[in-house]
Amino acid sequence: MSEAQPIGNVAIVGAGPGPVDLMTLRALDRLQRAEVVVYDRLISAEILERIPATAQRVYVGKALGYHSVPQEGIHELLIAHARAGRRVVRLKGGDPYVFGRGGEEVQALQAAGIACEVVPGVTAASGCSAAAGIPLTHRDYATSCVFLPGHLANDAATHDWRALARPGQTRVFYMGIQRLPHIAERLMAHGLSPETPAAIVRDGTRPSQTVLACRLSRLLQCAPAYGPQPGLLIIGETVQLSPYFESD
Ligand SMILES: C[S@@+](CC[C@H](N)C(=O)[O-])C[C@H]1O[C@@H](n2cnc3c(N)ncnc32)[C@H](O)[C@@H]1O
Repeated sequence: MSEAQPIGNVAIVGAGPGPVDLMTLRALDRLQRAEVVVYDRLISAEILERIPATAQRVYVGKALGYHSVPQEGIHELLIAHARAGRRVVRLKGGDPYVFGRGGEEVQALQAAGIACEVVPGVTAASGCSAAAGIPLTHRDYATSCVFLPGHLANDAATHDWRALARPGQTRVFYMGIQRLPHIAERLMAHGLSPETPAAIVRDGTRPSQTVLACRLSRLLQCAPAYGPQPGLLIIGETVQLSPYFESD
Protein backbone atom coordinates (compact mmCIF):
# COMPACT_ATOMS: atom_id res chain seq x y z
CA MET A 1 0.00 0.00 0.00
CA SER A 2 1.43 3.40 -0.90
CA GLU A 3 1.63 6.16 1.69
CA ALA A 4 -0.87 9.03 1.58
CA GLN A 5 0.36 11.99 -0.49
CA PRO A 6 0.82 15.23 1.46
CA ILE A 7 -1.79 17.84 0.62
CA GLY A 8 -1.36 21.61 0.18
CA ASN A 9 1.89 23.43 0.07
CA VAL A 10 3.61 25.82 2.46
CA ALA A 11 7.02 27.43 1.95
CA ILE A 12 8.58 28.65 5.18
CA VAL A 13 10.77 31.40 3.84
CA GLY A 14 13.62 33.26 5.51
CA ALA A 15 13.44 36.94 4.55
CA GLY A 16 16.86 37.87 5.92
CA PRO A 17 17.58 40.87 8.17
CA GLY A 18 15.81 43.57 6.13
CA PRO A 19 17.06 44.64 2.69
CA VAL A 20 15.41 42.86 -0.22
CA ASP A 21 18.78 42.18 -1.85
CA LEU A 22 19.77 40.08 1.15
CA MET A 23 16.99 37.61 0.32
CA THR A 24 17.94 34.52 -1.63
CA LEU A 25 16.71 34.07 -5.20
CA ARG A 26 14.68 31.09 -4.03
CA ALA A 27 13.04 33.15 -1.30
CA LEU A 28 12.06 35.85 -3.79
CA ASP A 29 10.74 33.25 -6.21
CA ARG A 30 8.48 31.67 -3.56
CA LEU A 31 7.27 35.10 -2.46
CA GLN A 32 6.43 36.22 -5.97
CA ARG A 33 4.40 33.07 -6.66
CA ALA A 34 2.53 33.16 -3.34
CA GLU A 35 -1.25 33.31 -3.05
CA VAL A 36 -1.20 33.85 0.71
CA VAL A 37 1.66 35.41 2.71
CA VAL A 38 1.69 35.08 6.49
CA TYR A 39 4.35 37.42 7.87
CA ASP A 40 5.95 38.75 11.04
CA ARG A 41 6.74 42.17 12.51
CA LEU A 42 10.37 42.36 11.42
CA ILE A 43 9.71 42.00 7.69
CA SER A 44 10.83 45.25 6.07
CA ALA A 45 8.62 47.47 3.94
CA GLU A 46 10.78 46.90 0.87
CA ILE A 47 10.26 43.14 1.13
CA LEU A 48 6.52 43.52 1.69
CA GLU A 49 6.43 45.49 -1.57
CA ARG A 50 7.51 42.32 -3.39
CA ILE A 51 4.36 40.45 -2.38
CA PRO A 52 2.13 40.12 -5.45
CA ALA A 53 -0.84 42.49 -5.39
CA THR A 54 -3.11 39.48 -5.91
CA ALA A 55 -1.84 37.68 -2.81
CA GLN A 56 -3.66 37.77 0.50
CA ARG A 57 -1.50 39.25 3.30
CA VAL A 58 -1.89 38.02 6.85
CA TYR A 59 0.04 39.85 9.57
CA VAL A 60 0.76 37.76 12.65
CA GLY A 61 3.19 40.33 14.10
CA LYS A 62 5.38 38.89 16.74
CA ALA A 63 6.91 41.30 19.20
CA LEU A 64 9.05 40.37 22.21
CA GLY A 65 6.80 39.02 24.94
CA TYR A 66 3.70 39.55 22.84
CA HIS A 67 2.25 37.54 19.98
CA SER A 68 -0.70 39.15 18.24
CA VAL A 69 -1.58 35.65 17.01
CA PRO A 70 -0.58 32.77 19.30
CA GLN A 71 1.78 30.20 17.78
CA GLU A 72 -0.97 27.55 17.61
CA GLY A 73 -3.16 30.07 15.79
CA ILE A 74 -0.40 30.54 13.19
CA HIS A 75 -0.23 26.78 12.69
CA GLU A 76 -4.00 26.59 12.20
CA LEU A 77 -3.90 29.47 9.73
CA LEU A 78 -1.16 27.84 7.64
CA ILE A 79 -2.94 24.50 7.66
CA ALA A 80 -6.31 26.01 6.72
CA HIS A 81 -4.91 27.99 3.77
CA ALA A 82 -2.87 25.02 2.55
CA ARG A 83 -5.90 22.70 2.78
CA ALA A 84 -7.84 25.20 0.70
CA GLY A 85 -5.27 24.51 -2.02
CA ARG A 86 -3.47 27.87 -1.91
CA ARG A 87 0.26 28.43 -2.37
CA VAL A 88 1.20 29.65 1.08
CA VAL A 89 4.37 31.48 2.09
CA ARG A 90 5.19 31.80 5.76
CA LEU A 91 7.60 34.75 5.68
CA LYS A 92 9.92 35.04 8.66
CA GLY A 93 12.73 37.44 9.56
CA GLY A 94 16.28 36.15 9.17
CA ASP A 95 16.46 32.37 8.97
CA PRO A 96 13.36 30.33 9.87
CA TYR A 97 15.37 27.85 11.90
CA VAL A 98 17.24 30.37 14.07
CA PHE A 99 15.11 31.52 17.03
CA GLY A 100 12.16 31.74 14.67
CA ARG A 101 9.97 28.80 15.74
CA GLY A 102 10.29 27.49 12.19
CA GLY A 103 10.88 24.03 13.61
CA GLU A 104 7.54 24.06 15.39
CA GLU A 105 5.74 25.23 12.27
CA VAL A 106 7.28 22.44 10.19
CA GLN A 107 6.28 19.90 12.84
CA ALA A 108 2.69 21.18 12.87
CA LEU A 109 2.46 21.06 9.06
CA GLN A 110 3.95 17.58 8.89
CA ALA A 111 1.53 16.37 11.56
CA ALA A 112 -1.32 17.73 9.43
CA GLY A 113 0.04 15.92 6.36
CA ILE A 114 0.89 19.12 4.53
CA ALA A 115 3.94 19.35 2.28
CA CYS A 116 6.33 22.12 3.23
CA GLU A 117 9.76 23.35 2.32
CA VAL A 118 12.10 25.60 4.27
CA VAL A 119 13.97 28.31 2.40
CA PRO A 120 16.97 29.51 4.41
CA GLY A 121 17.66 33.17 5.03
CA VAL A 122 20.54 35.35 6.17
CA THR A 123 20.27 35.24 9.94
CA ALA A 124 20.68 38.46 11.96
CA ALA A 125 24.07 37.34 13.28
CA SER A 126 25.48 36.99 9.77
CA GLY A 127 23.85 40.16 8.48
CA CYS A 128 24.86 42.30 11.44
CA SER A 129 28.38 40.93 11.65
CA ALA A 130 29.01 41.72 7.98
CA ALA A 131 27.38 45.15 8.16
CA ALA A 132 29.20 46.14 11.35
CA GLY A 133 32.60 44.71 10.36
CA ILE A 134 32.64 42.13 13.17
CA PRO A 135 33.85 38.69 12.02
CA LEU A 136 32.00 35.91 13.83
CA THR A 137 35.16 33.80 13.77
CA HIS A 138 38.77 34.75 13.10
CA ARG A 139 41.84 32.56 13.38
CA ASP A 140 43.54 35.01 15.74
CA TYR A 141 40.59 35.85 18.01
CA ALA A 142 37.71 33.38 17.94
CA THR A 143 37.58 29.78 16.78
CA SER A 144 33.89 29.41 17.56
CA CYS A 145 30.75 31.46 17.85
CA VAL A 146 27.56 30.77 19.71
CA PHE A 147 24.02 32.09 19.15
CA LEU A 148 21.92 32.52 22.28
CA PRO A 149 18.45 33.83 23.14
CA GLY A 150 19.19 36.73 25.47
CA HIS A 151 15.67 37.16 26.77
CA LEU A 152 15.88 33.78 28.46
CA ALA A 153 19.15 34.69 30.19
CA ASN A 154 17.50 35.54 33.53
CA ASP A 155 17.13 31.89 34.37
CA ALA A 156 20.43 30.63 35.80
CA ALA A 157 19.79 27.22 34.26
CA THR A 158 19.40 28.43 30.67
CA HIS A 159 23.01 29.16 29.82
CA ASP A 160 26.30 27.56 30.78
CA TRP A 161 27.92 30.82 31.89
CA ARG A 162 31.20 29.15 32.80
CA ALA A 163 31.60 27.83 29.25
CA LEU A 164 30.42 31.14 27.75
CA ALA A 165 33.03 33.10 29.72
CA ARG A 166 35.92 31.12 28.20
CA PRO A 167 38.10 33.04 25.72
CA GLY A 168 38.30 32.38 21.97
CA GLN A 169 34.60 32.61 21.12
CA THR A 170 32.10 35.17 19.85
CA ARG A 171 28.81 35.26 21.75
CA VAL A 172 25.80 36.56 19.84
CA PHE A 173 22.68 37.29 21.87
CA TYR A 174 19.41 37.58 19.97
CA MET A 175 16.62 39.43 21.80
CA GLY A 176 19.20 40.31 24.46
CA ILE A 177 19.68 44.08 24.53
CA GLN A 178 17.43 44.69 27.51
CA ARG A 179 19.18 41.86 29.35
CA LEU A 180 22.66 43.34 28.83
CA PRO A 181 23.30 44.16 32.54
CA HIS A 182 22.40 40.63 33.60
CA ILE A 183 24.33 38.97 30.76
CA ALA A 184 27.46 41.07 31.45
CA GLU A 185 27.22 40.42 35.17
CA ARG A 186 26.94 36.64 34.65
CA LEU A 187 29.85 36.52 32.20
CA MET A 188 32.12 38.65 34.40
CA ALA A 189 31.18 36.63 37.48
CA HIS A 190 32.53 33.60 35.59
CA GLY A 191 35.79 35.27 34.64
CA LEU A 192 35.20 37.29 31.48
CA SER A 193 37.22 40.49 31.51
CA PRO A 194 35.21 43.73 31.61
CA GLU A 195 37.67 44.93 28.95
CA THR A 196 36.27 42.43 26.44
CA PRO A 197 35.07 44.17 23.26
CA ALA A 198 31.31 44.16 22.84
CA ALA A 199 28.77 45.68 20.48
CA ILE A 200 25.12 46.48 20.08
CA VAL A 201 23.94 46.46 16.46
CA ARG A 202 20.44 47.81 15.96
CA ASP A 203 18.50 47.68 12.70
CA GLY A 204 21.49 45.78 11.32
CA THR A 205 21.95 45.92 7.50
CA ARG A 206 19.13 48.50 7.18
CA PRO A 207 19.62 52.17 6.25
CA SER A 208 18.77 53.03 9.87
CA GLN A 209 21.51 50.76 11.28
CA THR A 210 23.38 51.93 14.39
CA VAL A 211 26.45 50.28 15.90
CA LEU A 212 27.87 50.87 19.35
CA ALA A 213 31.15 49.00 19.84
CA CYS A 214 33.45 49.44 22.85
CA ARG A 215 34.67 47.63 25.99
CA LEU A 216 31.98 45.67 27.83
CA SER A 217 32.33 47.86 30.95
CA ARG A 218 31.77 50.96 28.84
CA LEU A 219 28.88 49.41 26.91
CA LEU A 220 27.14 48.88 30.24
CA GLN A 221 27.34 52.62 30.91
CA CYS A 222 26.26 53.91 27.52
CA ALA A 223 23.90 51.26 26.13
CA PRO A 224 20.90 52.87 24.48
CA ALA A 225 17.46 52.45 26.00
CA TYR A 226 15.66 49.38 24.74
CA GLY A 227 13.42 50.30 21.83
CA PRO A 228 11.29 48.68 19.17
CA GLN A 229 14.17 48.27 16.68
CA PRO A 230 15.65 44.77 16.51
CA GLY A 231 19.05 44.64 18.12
CA LEU A 232 21.84 42.15 18.53
CA LEU A 233 24.40 41.99 21.34
CA ILE A 234 27.81 40.66 20.30
CA ILE A 235 30.53 39.98 22.87
CA GLY A 236 34.02 38.84 21.95
CA GLU A 237 37.49 39.84 20.83
CA THR A 238 36.58 40.10 17.15
CA VAL A 239 34.47 43.19 17.94
CA GLN A 240 37.71 45.19 18.14
CA LEU A 241 38.12 44.69 14.35
CA SER A 242 35.01 46.74 13.67
CA PRO A 243 35.58 50.22 12.26
CA TYR A 244 32.99 51.37 14.81
CA PHE A 245 35.06 50.11 17.77
CA GLU A 246 36.16 52.72 20.28
CA SER A 247 38.84 51.31 22.56
CA ASP A 248 38.31 53.79 25.42
C1 LIG B 1 12.59 36.27 17.13
S1 LIG B 1 14.26 36.56 16.71
C2 LIG B 1 14.25 36.02 15.05
C3 LIG B 1 15.62 35.81 14.48
C4 LIG B 1 15.61 35.44 13.01
N1 LIG B 1 14.96 34.17 12.77
C5 LIG B 1 17.01 35.42 12.41
O1 LIG B 1 17.48 34.38 11.98
O2 LIG B 1 17.63 36.51 12.39
C6 LIG B 1 14.30 38.31 16.57
C7 LIG B 1 15.61 38.89 17.04
O3 LIG B 1 16.58 38.79 15.99
C8 LIG B 1 17.46 39.89 16.05
N2 LIG B 1 17.37 40.64 14.79
C9 LIG B 1 16.60 40.35 13.73
N3 LIG B 1 16.82 41.21 12.71
C10 LIG B 1 17.76 42.07 13.16
C11 LIG B 1 18.43 43.19 12.58
N4 LIG B 1 18.16 43.61 11.35
N5 LIG B 1 19.34 43.85 13.33
C12 LIG B 1 19.64 43.43 14.59
N6 LIG B 1 19.05 42.37 15.17
C13 LIG B 1 18.12 41.70 14.47
C14 LIG B 1 17.02 40.74 17.25
O4 LIG B 1 17.75 40.32 18.37
C15 LIG B 1 15.56 40.37 17.36
O5 LIG B 1 15.08 40.62 18.67
